[in-house]
Amino acid sequence: MFTRSHFPSLQEGYIYLDSASTSLTPQVVIDAMDTYYKDYRASSHRAMYASAVRATKEVEKVRVDIAHFIDAQEEEVIFTSGSTAAAQLLVATLEHNLKLQEGDEIVVTELDHHATFVPLQMLAQRKKMKLTVVPADEKFRVTEEAFAKCITPRTKIVSLIHASNVTGTIIPVERYAALAHENGAFVIIDAAQTAGHITLSFKKLGADALFFSGHKMCGPTGVGVLALKQKWIERCIPPYGGGGTVHSVDAEKTIFLPHKSKFEAGTLPIAEIIGLGKAVAYIQGISPGSIQAHSTELVAYALSCLGQKPWVSVYVGEDNVGVVSFSIAGVHPHDIAHIFAEHSIAVRAGFQCAELISRKLSSSGVVRISVYGYTTKEDIDACMRALDSVQKTFSI
Ligand SMILES: Cc1ncc(COP(=O)(O)O)c(C=O)c1O
Repeated sequence: MFTRSHFPSLQEGYIYLDSASTSLTPQVVIDAMDTYYKDYRASSHRAMYASAVRATKEVEKVRVDIAHFIDAQEEEVIFTSGSTAAAQLLVATLEHNLKLQEGDEIVVTELDHHATFVPLQMLAQRKKMKLTVVPADEKFRVTEEAFAKCITPRTKIVSLIHASNVTGTIIPVERYAALAHENGAFVIIDAAQTAGHITLSFKKLGADALFFSGHKMCGPTGVGVLALKQKWIERCIPPYGGGGTVHSVDAEKTIFLPHKSKFEAGTLPIAEIIGLGKAVAYIQGISPGSIQAHSTELVAYALSCLGQKPWVSVYVGEDNVGVVSFSIAGVHPHDIAHIFAEHSIAVRAGFQCAELISRKLSSSGVVRISVYGYTTKEDIDACMRALDSVQKTFSI
């Protein structure tokens, strides 16, 4: 798996079990950004001097690398500042370009993250559209039956989370995208929890758009990717204008570029894109499937340990990306997280920016442990010791 010494923030004694919030960063990523700042700091796509040309080349190389990484075309890769920014850009694009009518429908799932759920709910309210939420079943899955029931001829937009950040459940989005397309809907996949964990194919998943964040897959904060099918890139007017998006501007009108740059208004997060490129290379240096196999093993180990603590209620999807949530009756998740922090263990507590599913699991939310390629069984053992402290403190 990942070599722990590659991650400078993994100090001795610090147990990091919050990778679903943000992953740690290997030194190679930090070095690549450092080199940009020290050796060729300049704006990309704007000038002809050597450092600017190099910055442009590096950014465009990352675009090609990302295209390979997610099996998309280079022309479909749009850089954003993260998943949430990608979702906002997408929702604004759809609002401007689809002929959305009162009574049309948007379908989201109960597992969806606020990054898509909230902007789509806001869109539904603005346009007087119906927002349908596909419920998760008792195993935290979105079944084909439940999904199919929610799709109607009036469904215009479907949002599917590829893996839940609360229960870790991987959703078979490929099948659902096909079903939504049969009804003419636009399909969005939130791959924030799967990018860098499982192999992605934008082509095979069949969605119109897919997005993810760099910082959850060994990359820096402040960069993300929106993959948008070529036909939509050609067809859509961008919702935001700015430098780098235009073919020509005069006092009367602006003519936008015909390609993906029309969605990249303003100066790109150049250092972050370069760092993301290194993160992709770092992940690709690990044999395919091994990150998920490692996570699966750790989740199984955590479940076997938790099985010995019947006072802990566990919420975990079977086909899992490396996330285990739990709650303890009568103990607030924040109190549990505080005790974990005293043991130098980093976990997330609360509604996890996915309030629908978290609140359904437990009224004050859950505690989440999430693993990645640098997590060890010893980290899980430390977590179990912290849980014993919780038990003692609250006399459970
Ligand atoms: C499933 C999912 N989607 C979207 C996001 C939003 O990502 P970001 O905060 O990087 O925009 C997250 C982050 O927690 C997530 O877990």
